[in-house]
Amino acid sequence: MRTTVGIIGAGPAGLLLARLLHRAGIDSVVLESRDRAYVEQRQRAGILEQGTADVLRAVGAGERMDREGLRHDGIELRFDGRRHRVDFPGLTGGRSVTVYAQTEVCKDLVALQVEEGGPLLFEAEALAVEGAEGDRPRVPFRHRGVEQVLECDYVVGCDGFWGVARGAFPAEPSRVFERSYPYAWLGILADVAPSHGELVYARHDRGFALLSMRSPTVSRLYLQVPEGTDAARWGDEEIWDELERRLETADGWRLERGPVTQKSVTPMRSFVHEPMRHGRLFLAGDAAHIVPPTGAKGLNLAVGDVVTLARALVHRRDTGSEELLDAYSATCLRRIWQAERFSYDMTTLLHRAPGATAFDARLQRARLERIASSHAAGTDLAEAYTGFPLQ
Ligand code: FAD
Ligand code: DHB
Repeated sequence: MRTTVGIIGAGPAGLLLARLLHRAGIDSVVLESRDRAYVEQRQRAGILEQGTADVLRAVGAGERMDREGLRHDGIELRFDGRRHRVDFPGLTGGRSVTVYAQTEVCKDLVALQVEEGGPLLFEAEALAVEGAEGDRPRVPFRHRGVEQVLECDYVVGCDGFWGVARGAFPAEPSRVFERSYPYAWLGILADVAPSHGELVYARHDRGFALLSMRSPTVSRLYLQVPEGTDAARWGDEEIWDELERRLETADGWRLERGPVTQKSVTPMRSFVHEPMRHGRLFLAGDAAHIVPPTGAKGLNLAVGDVVTLARALVHRRDTGSEELLDAYSATCLRRIWQAERFSYDMTTLLHRAPGATAFDARLQRARLERIASSHAAGTDLAEAYTGFPLQ
């Protein structure tokens, strides 16, 4: 099998890259180790930055998002029983975010790819990337038990944190920067209308809690739990009790309960692999970087990477110049490190670390009060949350 761009992974990064290339007239093949149902149902992120929503519209994948997605003009920060709303358009000159689940983004992109794009092979596991230093990199893969080889001009590893592509980078000059956090998120989906119209990020002495949503009738909620927690050990009522305690306000706000339809634990990690290019092999999305979810940045960063890469591949085809491909890694890393910083700040602002002292708690409160009382501090949060513009 032969193609111009071999894409490993059909998460948001791989699917959007294939779509961008298809629209530009560059052919690609996408290899995905899981089956279609798995890719379309894997419950993950829910917040699209304005720039991400704009890109999805521009590639023709915005129709259902515009119909079913929810535009959000702010978030609420809760601490000490108080609420503070961060007004996004007011602080950023009109920017907002869209609540539209990653599962839905993937469904929309898979449907378009199957209808009019290049081959998208499910149950096709890439086994390695070979010859990245030369002109003809190759990806041996196993498709439903049969071993084959994909020959390409370029290979893009969009295969997430556990993929194979990063392993094809040489030890030198690769560098990894990482930090793990001693806590995790227990996330639930529940068939109940969200108890608040916007997302609520709560700092509490018992730990962080987040109220989010998937639709006007489906809530998504998260609780900080110790790392290594088994989701099955938390009973549904126990989860609601704990959410209620951490989200409580002094003004009598109520958390509505409903049937829990899904429960899972997400570990928290910051991770960056530099550089993101080795010869004709590129990394994009979680394959190259992970953020803790508190800033809702993971999916949006993946989108930023593939937009930058698609532009560079089109530039190469149109002009013969490698200039933008050469700049790919540095261009993406500037934005990635801003998201790493923001995700770290939000995480340490709102979570209770094991062994945290009263001093640490007072500092968190001072940081929250600063955001609530200073236009500059509020703007800093709102700009980062709604997303730094793509270059
Ligand atoms: P992925 O979505 O991981 O896609 C990679 C794809 O590659 C997968 O489909 C995988 O099956 C495939 N693959 C892997 N290896 C191979 C191989 N060898 N051959 C072929 N295919 C392969 N972000 C948020 O902002 N908010 C959240 O609440 C949130 N929750 C998360 C929960 C979990 C459990 C995880 C893992 C991530 C979460 N994220 C969240 C992060 C966000 O979902 C990711 O940043 C986003 O999915 C990145 O997209 P991606 O396409 O780079 O990688
Ligand atoms: C969701 C996830 C996040 O990480 C976040 O910061 C906000 C919302 C969500 O899944 O809805």
